[in-house]
Amino acid sequence: MKAYFDHGATTPVDPLVLKAMKPYFSLKFGNASSIHEFGRETHEALDQARKVIADSIGAEPSEIIFTSGGTESNNLAIKGLAQAKGSGHIITSKIEHHAVLMTCKYLEKQGFKVTYLPVDNEGFVNASDLKKAMTKNTILVTVMHANNEIGTVEPIDELARIAHEGGALFHTDAVQSFTKIPINVKEMNLDLVSLSAHKIHGPKGVGALYVRKGLRIQKQLEGGVHEFNLRAGTENIPGIVGFAKAVKLAKPEHVVYMTELRDKIINELLKIPGTRFNGAKKKRLCNNINISLMGVEGESILLGLDALGIAVSTGSACSSKNLKASHVLTAIGSKPEESHGSIRITLGRENTREEVDYLIKNIVKTVKRFKEMNSL
Ligand SMILES: Cc1ncc(COP(=O)(O)O)c(C=O)c1O
Repeated sequence: MKAYFDHGATTPVDPLVLKAMKPYFSLKFGNASSIHEFGRETHEALDQARKVIADSIGAEPSEIIFTSGGTESNNLAIKGLAQAKGSGHIITSKIEHHAVLMTCKYLEKQGFKVTYLPVDNEGFVNASDLKKAMTKNTILVTVMHANNEIGTVEPIDELARIAHEGGALFHTDAVQSFTKIPINVKEMNLDLVSLSAHKIHGPKGVGALYVRKGLRIQKQLEGGVHEFNLRAGTENIPGIVGFAKAVKLAKPEHVVYMTELRDKIINELLKIPGTRFNGAKKKRLCNNINISLMGVEGESILLGLDALGIAVSTGSACSSKNLKASHVLTAIGSKPEESHGSIRITLGRENTREEVDYLIKNIVKTVKRFKEMNSL
């Protein structure tokens, strides 16, 4: 049996997404900026897709900028806002994805001041820490909606309110939460939101940035006036069409189903002696399980499971080749030995109950085998 449990890294493209994309490769291939019929046809598809993405988060189509994915959206949001302001103070958290953390580090080198807020042992940013960190120079607060490693869902409504009270803007990286947790940019008072298609059964290399109407950000690519003059470059129409189709296919019942599987996995794995649960117990992504297995290396478990056709990960995809303890696990207070024994299981709607049973059975067996080997 082959069973994929690494949907936090990426998801398979849904066959219906692929079907929707196909005509836009060689049949309807026009450049959406061309004014002839070939171009008008793809421009129409671009407009429709923009409306789908906008509707899904309560935004206006003119507030959606298509990008190459979550990384670019985070760069455009944070650098774009910082550069438009020229100087100032930025607040983020210690558990952000590298696309946010490295962007903040880059801006520090450019003269911006950055505060990295700590999190508690479940991974939550504390509202009073944000209040204390705000200064009269704070221009932006960027805190992720849901963490990619430990699944913790941050109180972004409250954090956005505090940012605004202090005169700053609020950005959230919603790459992992999009379609799993409802987002309404108006009700939640969000100024900038990053999204990505490949985490929701859409294609890789396409994403979007929500930019609240009237907000000025500096574009990051010089070129044409595409995407309301905020992101130059011929639009990736097949990718954008696929992204919109993926959004349409995401249903609340998938969240209910994944939550049920998640809770079963957590309950079963916590029966393994010495297992530690990582992340939030309640406010958690429906598809994320992160545990530390004491006395065994996460990498050994990963490779042991891989040999049985099961894919899981140890931390985020970007750091899976890097044996340094995860910055997220370190921030929630894990000791290095706990971080090294951690595995992340991320579900998708196509996972079956049989696959879940196969996963549980083989994790239990593999951990037992390694513990016995280690005790020899
Ligand atoms: C929270 C988060 N932000 C940003 C990204 C980057 O998105 P993309 O792969 O579309 O560049 C990821 C991908 O792992 C992520 O999990």
